[in-house]
Amino acid sequence: MSDTDTTMNAALEKAEAGVRRMRAARDDRWYPSTHIAASAGWINDPNGLSFVDGRYQVYFQHHPYSTEWGPMHWGHVSSDDLVTWRREPIALAPSTTADRDGVFSGSAVVRDDGALAVVYTGHRFRNGVDEDEGNLQVQCLAVSTDGGRTFSKEGTVIDCPEGFVHFRDPKVWKQDGRWFLVVGVSTLDRRGQVWLYTCDDPELTTWDFDSVLYEAADPNVFMLECPDFFPLSRSGEPAYPGDPDVRWVLVFSPMGATPHGYTNRNGNNAVYVVGDWAPGRPFTDVSPDRPSDSGANYYAPQTFQAPDGRRILFGWMGSFTAPEPTRAADAWCGQFTAPRELRLSASGDSVSTVPVAEYARLRQDTVATGPVSVGLNEDVVLAEDIRNSADIELEIDLDRTTAERVSLLVHATPTGNHTAVSWDSQSGRVWLDRRLSGAGDRGYRSVPVPASDGTGDAPTLRLRVIVDRGSVEVFVGDGEGVISSAVFPPEGPRALVLSSESGTAELPTVTVHRLRSIWEDPADR
Ligand code: FRU
Repeated sequence: MSDTDTTMNAALEKAEAGVRRMRAARDDRWYPSTHIAASAGWINDPNGLSFVDGRYQVYFQHHPYSTEWGPMHWGHVSSDDLVTWRREPIALAPSTTADRDGVFSGSAVVRDDGALAVVYTGHRFRNGVDEDEGNLQVQCLAVSTDGGRTFSKEGTVIDCPEGFVHFRDPKVWKQDGRWFLVVGVSTLDRRGQVWLYTCDDPELTTWDFDSVLYEAADPNVFMLECPDFFPLSRSGEPAYPGDPDVRWVLVFSPMGATPHGYTNRNGNNAVYVVGDWAPGRPFTDVSPDRPSDSGANYYAPQTFQAPDGRRILFGWMGSFTAPEPTRAADAWCGQFTAPRELRLSASGDSVSTVPVAEYARLRQDTVATGPVSVGLNEDVVLAEDIRNSADIELEIDLDRTTAERVSLLVHATPTGNHTAVSWDSQSGRVWLDRRLSGAGDRGYRSVPVPASDGTGDAPTLRLRVIVDRGSVEVFVGDGEGVISSAVFPPEGPRALVLSSESGTAELPTVTVHRLRSIWEDPADR
């Protein structure tokens, strides 16, 4: 074992002990039952999403010593079906000069020799303590030959451009026998850009700068974190790079974006643009930037291609800036979205997002089903107590509904709290409103009713809502809109209620499935 490995192993053992100490104090009132989270401590971005040795690998930015962001490690969970997750040992810890202050975000690919190669950002504060004099960030390689459980660090593979203070989050893919990588950059004149590198070396050690792939139009945007760049096909068939029927999607998390109207409402927002690209050609966008998710807690999503060709995404359903009550006393903070499949819309200029088909395997029983008519200003209780997680499918017949607002109230407690998921006839939008959610941040977010649902001969609005102990995700129509937010409801029974205002509502379909936990370890359920 090299000296580098010995130093990291000592750091990993210490980190595991840190998590175990905090785990003993974990409060599960909001701990996710069907979403990935650390067993204790802080998490942010999904990292290294991959499939190796028959298992899906999900790593995450992890601070194992507290519920606050701190020196970053890579936590790890794995699964053979995308819905049952096993905890793995922490995979990477700061241990070299280059990653002294953090093993920052990055991605993983399976090399031709079968090893899992991770390219991540080695992070140092230039002044050794904080960002006041900027960061010194380089891209580093680490390699696993045991299916992603343990890694050897192989050192820096891309150096920091002279004077740059933000240069991070490499995302690697293979195309036509060549490796490509995008990385987020803040230029010397503080413009947010995505840079493209290429590599012809099978070990992934030698990278060449190719081009500036993209620059944010908003001059206030000074950095594009966590870029991801991948093809999606218009036919709905799996999209492989080089397929002529594809569009390319660039996802990134801008820093400094200006809030306007319904967009960029959060301290941190993630967006995407759709365009055309081929190696050696510039990226030409055919869409404006659009939210990757319109919820209050969503950032730094990453995707990977499943063995069957689907493009699968996890986002961080958390925030650097919003108040999250689990930080104070619950010994954990941060969770991921449900795994999602991305598809290119028929028009070829937007992306739809739905839970992966496997999510339905979590359904253990159906507690309410049927058409439901909601009378004038009436509340209909669908389930008295959904304490853990549920997957709810609704259709609202907009032609036969006279109510000016129809709401599904989730986490409705005897204290009068709830989170409202509403269709609002006046704005023509679907809202997720946390004014009465309980603890934590309030505020509301919304997406338009998709044209496919809101118009035509039989306008029916379809909603899929995934509720967990501490989150609500709303998928609208065929996934044209998504709203993901963390919520912190009071203790006690948490009912599901349909509610109409100033009119009646007709719902031809209402199905409520209770979900089993995703955790292999019974102690986490
Ligand atoms: C995004 C981010 C990345 C960075 C990581 C550090 O949330 O700031 O740019 O690599 O988190 O934890």
